[in-house]
Amino acid sequence: MPETSDRKDDHIRIIEEEDVETAGTGFADVDLVHEALPEIHRDEIDTTTTLFGHELAAPIVIESMTGGHANTTKLNRALAEAAQETNVAMGVGSQRAGLELDDEDVLESYTVVREVAPDALLYGNVGAAQLLEYDVADVEAAVEMIDADAMAVHLNFLQEAVQPEGDVDARGCLAEIERVASELSVPVVVKETGNGISRATATRLTDAGVDAIDVAGQGGTTWSGIESYRAAAVGASRQEQVGQLFRAWGVPTAVSTIESATVHDCVIASGGVRSGLDIAKAIALGARAGGLAKPFLAPAGQGTDAVVDLIETLTLELTTAMFVTGSASIAELQETDYVVCGRTKEYLDERSR
Ligand SMILES: Cc1cc2nc3c(=O)[nH]c(=O)nc-3n(C[C@H](O)[C@H](O)[C@H](O)COP(=O)(O)O)c2cc1C
Repeated sequence: MPETSDRKDDHIRIIEEEDVETAGTGFADVDLVHEALPEIHRDEIDTTTTLFGHELAAPIVIESMTGGHANTTKLNRALAEAAQETNVAMGVGSQRAGLELDDEDVLESYTVVREVAPDALLYGNVGAAQLLEYDVADVEAAVEMIDADAMAVHLNFLQEAVQPEGDVDARGCLAEIERVASELSVPVVVKETGNGISRATATRLTDAGVDAIDVAGQGGTTWSGIESYRAAAVGASRQEQVGQLFRAWGVPTAVSTIESATVHDCVIASGGVRSGLDIAKAIALGARAGGLAKPFLAPAGQGTDAVVDLIETLTLELTTAMFVTGSASIAELQETDYVVCGRTKEYLDERSR
């Protein structure tokens, strides 16, 4: 993630070729209670929602993924064109390469998104560890690079710990996040990258003044797993083993959504969100929107129409969930009844002891 250009290329290849997903988001343990008498017309359901002052057609986020290598320009173009066409939100991948390398092709892999999506909600991406090296003006340069509506700061310390060359000095990040949140010209969202955010961490981020929290919980893409494959390829067998051991580490996405939403009113649920029904469940648990990363990667390779197709499928699934819970709007979906069973219930019970 905090990317040199070639590392990003390695990651995408591994994600396309290996098993890099874990189960266990907890959404399977969440049931929305069926409404047999919805008393609404399905085609009049309003899926619009507001994120960072921007009205989206649906509460869907294309999560931070690419940019930083000439090969990724095509992917970002397809994702951004689809975000423009369907009016959903999109994040770019870490802008470190764009900020640090003096290379036109690398820069274009990011700037393409605003060229093709003049009206979409687009947000930038920097790593929390990089904030220790950057001043606010550097982060502002990342905003300007894509004329971003918001800036994501990613947390990925497990990934760093598995990378043979990882940056494992996590000291001072919260103070830097607080500084950027108060001084940057656009809203700041702090996101994990697949290991989730606990209630206590969400509280520290809320106190630091961040505008949104994207939980990116456990379940879905595993960066520990991805780095394990990379470590294996360079013969770093100890790192490979550690990566396997921590493959499914973290706060499950459903739990992280509930915990974060108790302390912050703008939570994005991601990490293993794989359908519009998962998005509906996340919203019932307190999220403002649901985000997906890996499921968009293959469609992005195929082109804009394939990305639009996935967004339309997600929207129909979400709308169907809204219809059969009698939710005419996202605000009503947030209030719909749900039941939590199984491991997720046990997890939440233990957490509230
Ligand atoms: C190919 C790929 C690249 C990613 N690169 C970044 C990144 O640069 N910055 C970041 O914050 N998250 C990055 N992520 C993490 C995602 O934004 C997301 O938090 C995580 O993958 C969980 O979502 P998923 O299970 O839907 O993939 C990346 C994910 C994928 C699949």
